[in-house]
Parts: sequence; structure tokens; C-alpha cells
Amino acid sequence: MSYNAFGIDLGTNNIKIYNSMDDTILVEKNMIAIENKKNLFAYGDSAFEMYEKAPAHINISYPLSNGVIADIKNMELLIKYFISDLTRGSVKPADYYIAVPFDITEVEKRAFYDLIKEAGVKAKKIYVVEKAVADGLGMDIDVKNSQGVMMVNVGFDTTEVSILSLGGIVLSRLIKVGGLKFDDAIRSTVRKQYNLIIGGKTAENVKMSLRDLEKEGKGAVVYGRDIVTGLPVERELPTKMIDECLIEHFYTIVDSVKVILERTPPELAADIYKHGIYLTGGASQVNHLTELIQKGTGLKVNVAENPVTSVAIGLSKIIKNDNYKSVAYTIEGMSK
Ligand SMILES: Nc1ncnc2c1ncn2[C@@H]1O[C@H](COP(=O)(O)OP(=O)(O)OP(=O)(O)O)[C@@H](O)[C@H]1O
Ligand SMILES: [Mg+2]
Repeated sequence: MSYNAFGIDLGTNNIKIYNSMDDTILVEKNMIAIENKKNLFAYGDSAFEMYEKAPAHINISYPLSNGVIADIKNMELLIKYFISDLTRGSVKPADYYIAVPFDITEVEKRAFYDLIKEAGVKAKKIYVVEKAVADGLGMDIDVKNSQGVMMVNVGFDTTEVSILSLGGIVLSRLIKVGGLKFDDAIRSTVRKQYNLIIGGKTAENVKMSLRDLEKEGKGAVVYGRDIVTGLPVERELPTKMIDECLIEHFYTIVDSVKVILERTPPELAADIYKHGIYLTGGASQVNHLTELIQKGTGLKVNVAENPVTSVAIGLSKIIKNDNYKSVAYTIEGMSK
């Protein structure tokens, strides 16, 4: 394919970049490590590798927060490095398709556009695509011809619940619950019940292994620091205790899904009833969430085959297929 284009899903936890030149999707941590407040020390997965382990003069952070750009300078830097890596250092003019949440302000949306423009990546045209629309395409839904599709994307900082119809968004809500809240709940429960401090990565690993542990009837073995003695210790945590501490957040998600369903025009509700809910996003894989949404709504839940990359897969379809180009738009007054 000779059309040079990139499709970017800027997640708070993972950045996903579709590259049309070799038809691949890069997934890296959306993280940057800065040394002595000025020098780039590491980025992406290698910055994450050092996270929670680095000395004080190395600052490791996520430039995105709650789905919007919090640190523009570092986000530009990251985009520049990732695109440079993908093009082996020789960045050629290309079109950019960037996925953005629907339920953010126009100024915040514009910031995504400006980010690509300012990142020094030779952007020819910059298109914006609603994340939920890309997600739908990524899950093989014919979004342009469907009248009523419910998408739920459970990410790191946020969960986006949207109703799509005829290629556009009818309703959408971005709530501040996702994988990070699940990890935090695990950490605070372990602290309360066991007087044990565990790191964020440990909590994340526990969360991701819950399903397997439950199947095997095993607890989660963790290492942390005992609050009382200050010494490192090993503990086995029962999976039931972890499940219980996550449930409150699961209900927040179920409640948002129900609120959106209540507000959905009845003509669209018929299609949603027939096809069910489409669930995606990395953290949607957490143990028991699917069943809870199913029970809470009485609807079938279709789970994504590629929950982390479904938005980027959707962007790749838009880039490859002219029939889908109409769901991408340029921001008024900014198109070249
Ligand atoms: N198997 C799994 N079980 C549970 N959670 C998982 C699993 N795999 C990944 N996750 C969680 O998914 C989250 C990352 O998902 P994703 O890449 O969709 O988020 P993001 O797009 O970066 O965030 P956001 O959409 O909120 O900006 C992390 O919290 C991670 O712990
Ligand atoms: Mg996401």
C-alpha cells in the first residue's frame, strides 16, 4: 500500500499506533522518564519497566490523564519518538487519524489535533475519529448502517459508554473508572486487611491473574512491605477478598450503562436489545465484569477479541477502506 498514514489511539496507559506502511499496530506504555527535570531518559515500555523503581532524580509519568492530554510537551515528545521508531528515523509526510473520546470539551479535542500538528511528524492531513466509532469498526460492527449500537470501553483511567447510530454518536459518557481504580482498590484492601503495602504493578498482576487463580482454586502470592515491621514479606491473598473489593467499581460501570440505556431513544433500543452490548478495552477483561454487566442489564454482552487494540484496528479499517472515510473528520478551521 502506498498510502502513508498512521492511526493513533492515545490511551492513558497504552498508546496504540497503526502504521499503514507495514499494516501493524504498535502497543507501548504511554509513559516517559525524564532525568534531572530535562533529559529524556526512557520512553514507552522501557519507562514503565523503571516505574516505581527509579531514583528520585528520574521522574516517570503518564502525559495523559482521564483520557485528556495533561502534559502536552512530553506527549509531543513521545509521539515524535514513536513515529521516528516506526519509520526507522526517516519520517515521511503522512496522514494522521487520531481517536478521541466524545464526552470531552472542544478545547480538549482540539488539543489532540494540535498535538499531532506540533509533534514534528510531518503530518499532511489530521483527522479526528470518535473513539467509540473506531471501537465499533474494530469489533467488526457495520457502524455506518447500524441503528443502535452500545459500546463500552473499560480502559485505564476511564470507561466510555456510548450509543452509536448510522456512523455517529447519539449519546456518550466518559466516567473516571478503569483498570487503575481496580489496582488501587486491591492495594488499599491489602493494606487494610494485611497491614501490607504492595506496589501498583503487583496489584495489576493480581488483577490480571484472578481468573486463572480462581480456576485453580489458588490465592494470589504477593510481595510487599509490612507496615508494622517495615520489612519485606510474602503473603497469599484469597481471590474472594480481591473480587469483593472490586465489586463497587464494577457497579459504577453497570450503573452508567443503565443510565445511558435509559436515555437511549426507544427506536434505537430495539437494535441494542437484539444485538446486545459490545464490551472492549484492556480492563474489560477483569474477572466477573462481563457477567455483572449481563446480569445488571439483562442484555447479551459481546466481548472483544482484541480488547486493547480494538480502537486501533478500527482506525486501520478507516485508513484501508474508503467506504469508512466519512466517519473521520477534520476540525473546523484547522484543515490544510
Ligand atoms: N487480562 C487482563 N485482565 C484485567 N485487566 C487487564 C488485562 N489486560 C490488561 N488489563 C488492564 O487494561 C488496562 C489498559 O487497557 P487499555 O490499553 O485499553 O487502556 P488505555 O486505552 O490506555 O486507557 P484509557 O482508555 O482509559 O485512556 C490496564 O489497567 C491493564 O491493567
Ligand atoms: Mg483506551
